Amino acid sequence: MRPDRSVLKGGRRLIKTLSRVLYEVVEHHVSVDVAFKRACRSACADSLEEREELYRLARKLVSDYIKLTCVVGRKKPYGALVRVWLKGIHNLLEEMPPWCRLSYPEWYYRKLTELLGREEAEKVMRAMEDRVWWLRINTLRGSVEYVLRELEREGVEFEVDKHFHYLVRIVRSPKPVRLLQPVKEFKAVPQDKASVAVVEALNPSEDDLIVDMASAPGLKTSLIMALTENKAKVVAADISWRRMLNEVALLKKLGVDLSRVYLTLTDSSSLNLRARADKVLLDAPCSNSGAVSKDPGVKVHLTQSKIRYYAGIQRALLRKAIELGELVTYSTCSIMPEEGELVTASVRNVVRFRRVFSWASPGYGIVDFSNEVMRFFPHKHATEAFYLAVLEVR
Ligand SMILES: C[S@@+](CC[C@H](N)C(=O)[O-])C[C@H]1O[C@@H](n2cnc3c(N)ncnc32)[C@H](O)[C@@H]1O
Repeated sequence: MRPDRSVLKGGRRLIKTLSRVLYEVVEHHVSVDVAFKRACRSACADSLEEREELYRLARKLVSDYIKLTCVVGRKKPYGALVRVWLKGIHNLLEEMPPWCRLSYPEWYYRKLTELLGREEAEKVMRAMEDRVWWLRINTLRGSVEYVLRELEREGVEFEVDKHFHYLVRIVRSPKPVRLLQPVKEFKAVPQDKASVAVVEALNPSEDDLIVDMASAPGLKTSLIMALTENKAKVVAADISWRRMLNEVALLKKLGVDLSRVYLTLTDSSSLNLRARADKVLLDAPCSNSGAVSKDPGVKVHLTQSKIRYYAGIQRALLRKAIELGELVTYSTCSIMPEEGELVTASVRNVVRFRRVFSWASPGYGIVDFSNEVMRFFPHKHATEAFYLAVLEVR
């Protein structure tokens, strides 16, 4: 991908910004978005157009990092790596192992290939290069029809989703999604379809007491409240006070009735409630191995030990979830079975499964209940890679 020279100015500034992005992602393990904000703190662009082009390049550079290091090694200074990348030299080598060609860690490539077969695994990895934007219309702030008309007036081309009528996939937008008027006014929220499906799987209703065990920044809690017209009661827990502060701010902006949301700062693996909840949503902390399309930096800093670490936390949270309520959804934005099927296996003797979406893919065939749990994939469902199990506690 060559930069659009008509938009970008200043070769030195371009290299300096991109090198800083790479440095932040590789050394500090931050997402591309955070790295880009840090790199662009001092003026990195003269116009919004130039900034957007720079951001697009930063994403692509980070996405190509593994491929780049396959060609020139890891020892080169970041500026030199960026210069090689801008010249497109990394694309000239024909003989490369497939994980280098696709720019994924070797272990990630091998694992996915084992699970899905080579052809399908490569399709998934290619599909994760492009971000699909989904917008959920926030019915607490406006009707679906009204907000869709506003989007049309702004020149946005979109498709209404065939499963969830308040969800649209952006086909073309005249400006970055975050700058669209309905998004700025919180009448529409960027939210991946798989994330919406997790809440729909819980089928929230007005009389429910629902526990959201890992709730920040509150996207799923706010959808629960939108689906029940602010009538459900939600215990929204999270371990991070910083993320919880963001959650409070977001829920307010989205029009959630905070008198019905009990925000609880806690480690949910030791959460206790006086009453048994009707439903429990466990959208567990995970390695993000399925969220490459949102943050290509995941490919750079994902490790197998990170996956094992989060799998341990998920097991503890899931054990607690089935103590807390009658019906549990357990989800992760991970493509790895260690953060999905294998965690679910640890409670299988005390639950019944519900496969609520026939359009979702089954789980990996490494467990005997694979047909009863669900997976979402970017190449099939235009979503992040997600795992979802709906568990009825026996
Ligand atoms: C995937 S995010 C949740 C996203 C959220 N459900 C939403 O839709 O906006 C996982 C969250 O789990 C929280 N977390 C991690 N460990 C936790 C624990 N032991 N107890 C409660 N929350 C935890 C993190 O702080 C993070 O906010």
